[in-house]
Amino acid sequence: MTPRSDSLFMRALRREPVDRTPLWMMRQAGRYLPEYRATRSRAGDFLTLASTPELACEVTLQPIERYGFDAAILFSDILILPHVMGLGLRFTPGEGPWFERPLKSAADVEKLPMPDPEDDTGYVMDAVRLIRRSLPEDVPLIGFAGSPWTVATYMIENLGSKNHADARRFLLAEPEAGDTLMKHLADATIDYLVAQVKAGADALMIFDSWGGVLSTTMYKRFSLASQQRIVDGVKQACPDTPLILFGKDCGQHLEKLAGTGCTALGVDWTMDMSEARERVGQQVALQGNLDPAVLLTAPDVIAAETRRVLDSYGPSPGHIFNLGHGITPQVPPEHVSVLVETVRDYSAELRSRS
Ligand code: CP3
Repeated sequence: MTPRSDSLFMRALRREPVDRTPLWMMRQAGRYLPEYRATRSRAGDFLTLASTPELACEVTLQPIERYGFDAAILFSDILILPHVMGLGLRFTPGEGPWFERPLKSAADVEKLPMPDPEDDTGYVMDAVRLIRRSLPEDVPLIGFAGSPWTVATYMIENLGSKNHADARRFLLAEPEAGDTLMKHLADATIDYLVAQVKAGADALMIFDSWGGVLSTTMYKRFSLASQQRIVDGVKQACPDTPLILFGKDCGQHLEKLAGTGCTALGVDWTMDMSEARERVGQQVALQGNLDPAVLLTAPDVIAAETRRVLDSYGPSPGHIFNLGHGITPQVPPEHVSVLVETVRDYSAELRSRS
């Protein structure tokens, strides 16, 4: 047992009893931190920051140093993979990411290259290696990728499409090309995630941020099936590496996600943790699920809402505290300290009472 595999986070993923609930936050390295904004302005832009291993390492460590979170997450982006497939990633301030050469037709899908993780995304693997060397020995590192469907929404449409109607239209009009695209992205993602594990990632996470906009039929065919392909492929290559699936607005699909054979599910804030646990039984660990908007309120509200999430889950094993989605840039950093202290104190108290 290494100090990392014995950490609270890894133990909770295995649903082993722990003295208190481990926590980390989605988007924990981000614009709410003044030290992140300083590094980002030194880098000049987000893509330079994400593709320079020393800088990516620096910002990955910032929230660990400030708050002592129980896991670090690689600083990168789910859109790096389509970027290296040649689509040309751009960020417009205030409007988010878009691609210079989006997919317009089935023929564009056929032409997509299969990236080599070390040759084409070597800076990501170098960042993982550097972070692993720089992090305290007992802090696990989470590697990640987007789900094929969520990544495809950005590859297919231009800025401004509501509820990803452009991407839904593409899959409805060209379902075979959609299957080919999902398989291609799933296979590229398997290689990409396995390379992150080889470089030093201790656990993996898939973000399906837009799974919730699909009809159930399309969800199963495109989002769920491609995530299943990733779970199977990663498990085959890295049977001991935990894999977390996070689907935003995917509460109705929780049982299907738990049935993929993943290690844990990320739960967004719209569902009670107690209900999530009841629905999936003991198949998986659960990660979540404070509404990120809570961090914009006052300390007493933050403490009360944090306790409510911990109470809802209860003292049983298998909970990793997180937000229900990423932290927003307007959050005062002191508010995160209230969250961290409440999780530490109250989750230990809950266990000593039970
Ligand atoms: O969580 C972390 O701290 C690790 C790093 C991380 C980023 N993006 C850095 C980032 C992770 C895990 C992601 C995942 C990601 N990226 C998702 C899935 C999670 C989710 O939030 O739903 C998605 C959909 C993306 C695509 C993406 N990247 C968007 C929509 C944006 C713009 C959003 C915004 O807040 O401006 C990005 C840029 C981005 N990725 C930022 C960060 C810190 C903001 C960049 C900046 O201007 O500094």
